Amino acid sequence: MSEPTKDLIVALDIGTSKVVAMIAEVLPNNSFNVIGIGHHPSRGMKKGMVVNIEETIQTIQYAMEEAELRAGFSVRSVCTGIAGSHIHSFNSSGMVAVKDTEITQADIDRVLETARAVSIPADQQILHVLSQQFKVNDQDDIRNPIGMTGMRLEVKVHIITGSVSAAQNIVKCIRRCGLEVNELVLQPLASSMAVLTQDERDIGVALVDIGGGTTDIAIFIDGAIRHTAVIPIAGDQVTNDIAMALRTPTVEAEELKLRYGVSKQMMVPPDSVIEIPGVGDRVARRVKRQSLAAVIEPRLEELFVLVQRNLSEAGFEHLIASGVVLTGGTSLLPGMTELAEEVFMKPVRIAQPAYDGNLSDIVCNPRYATVVGLLMEARKHKGEPTAGMGRAHVPARSQTKVDQQAGVHATSSRVQSNVNDGSQQSVWAKMKDWFVKTF
Ligand SMILES: Nc1ncnc2c1ncn2[C@@H]1O[C@H](COP(=O)(O)OP(=O)(O)OP(=O)(O)O)[C@@H](O)[C@H]1O
Ligand SMILES: [Mg+2]
Repeated sequence: MSEPTKDLIVALDIGTSKVVAMIAEVLPNNSFNVIGIGHHPSRGMKKGMVVNIEETIQTIQYAMEEAELRAGFSVRSVCTGIAGSHIHSFNSSGMVAVKDTEITQADIDRVLETARAVSIPADQQILHVLSQQFKVNDQDDIRNPIGMTGMRLEVKVHIITGSVSAAQNIVKCIRRCGLEVNELVLQPLASSMAVLTQDERDIGVALVDIGGGTTDIAIFIDGAIRHTAVIPIAGDQVTNDIAMALRTPTVEAEELKLRYGVSKQMMVPPDSVIEIPGVGDRVARRVKRQSLAAVIEPRLEELFVLVQRNLSEAGFEHLIASGVVLTGGTSLLPGMTELAEEVFMKPVRIAQPAYDGNLSDIVCNPRYATVVGLLMEARKHKGEPTAGMGRAHVPARSQTKVDQQAGVHATSSRVQSNVNDGSQQSVWAKMKDWFVKTF
C-alpha cells in the first residue's frame, strides 16, 4: 500500500438500516474521489438512535474495516451524522451594537452569541446555530456583513437542538471503535448538501430524506435554512405493515417490498400475482401484487401527510416554490414521485448525490445522500487537527476503549463558518460549545 498523496476525508453514516463508511481523496480542484466504501446492514439502531451499543459498535467496525481495506488506508477520525425524534429546531434572532462602526468577525460572533441565548430543556443541547440573514441598521437581507459600516447588527438564526444522551451514545460507539469524531452533523443537513441545487435553495425547497427509521426534513428559502425536523416513521414501518397485513416474516416482507413493492396500487396490473412465504411451517400463499401495493400506498400517503403537516405548521408550505426533493432508500420505491405530488400538490423529484467521480455508479444512490453530504462537510474542514488518516497498513480494529478525553475537537473557527452566504455553507456551524462542554 502506498503513502497518501492527497488529502483524505472520511464520513460515517450510522443509519437505522445500514451503516456506511466512505473514504475519499480531495483533489487539487477541491472535488473529491471516493476510494473506499464499507456498507453493512445496521444492527443496534432504532428510529435513528442507538438502542444497543455493542451491536452498533460491531456494525461500525465492519463497515469501517471494509472501507479501509478498499481504500488501503486506516482511519483515525470521522465526520458523522445525528438524527432521531429528539431533534428540535426553531428560529431566533439577536442584536448587538457594532464596536467600531465597521463590522468584523468579532461582531458577528457576538451577535450569534446573543441569538443563541435562549432557554432550552435541560436534557437538550444546541447542535447548530445557523445564520439565515443579517441586518445592518435598517438594511436587511444581508448574507455576509463583514466590512460593512453600521451601528447596529442584527441576525436571524435557525437553532437546532438534540438530546445530549443520544449524541453521547453515537460518540461513545465511534470512540469504542478506536476512532475520533471530528464532526457531528444533523443528517438532513448533510443530505441536503449532497442533493440540493443552489437554485432550489434560493427559490425555496423541502428536502425529505426517507430512510429506514426516520424521515428527515430540511427547508431552504431564499438560500437559507428555515426549518428542520425528524419524523420517526419511514421504510421500516412499511415493511412492518407488509409483515402484519400479509402474515409473513419481516425479512420476507422486506424482500417482497424491494422486489415487488410500488407506492401506488394503480401501477400494478390487476392480474399480477406474487408468492408470500408463510410464517413458521405454514405454506406459502399466492396473492395479488396489488394487495402488496394496497399495504404500501396508505402508509406512504400517511407519511407524506405528516410531512405536509409539519411544513404547514412551520409556516413554510406555501413558500417552497421549487417543490419537494425526495431522497433516502425509501425514495427508490417506484411511484414515489407521483404519490408525493398528489399529496403535496407541488413538483417532486427523486434525488441522488451530486457526484461524478470514482465509483459514481455506486455512490450516486439516494441511500448515500447523507454519507456524501458528510464527506462534503469533512472536505470543508480537512487539515484541522483531527481530520486524520493513518497510512497503509489496515490493522484489525480491536474494541479497546479509547481515552474519553481524546478525540472530539470542534474548533471555534467553525462558528465563523456560520457567516458566509447565509445558506448551505453556514449550515455547518458546529457544535463547538456543546462538544467542548459535553464530551
Ligand atoms: N430499491 C428499494 N426500493 C424500495 N425501498 C428500498 C430500496 N432500497 C432500500 N429501500 C428501503 O429504504 C430503507 C433504508 O433507507 P436508507 O438506507 O436511506 O436508511 P438509513 O439511512 O439506514 O436509515 P435512517 O436514515 O432512517 O436512519 C429501508 O426501509 C429499505 O427497505
Ligand atoms: Mg439515513
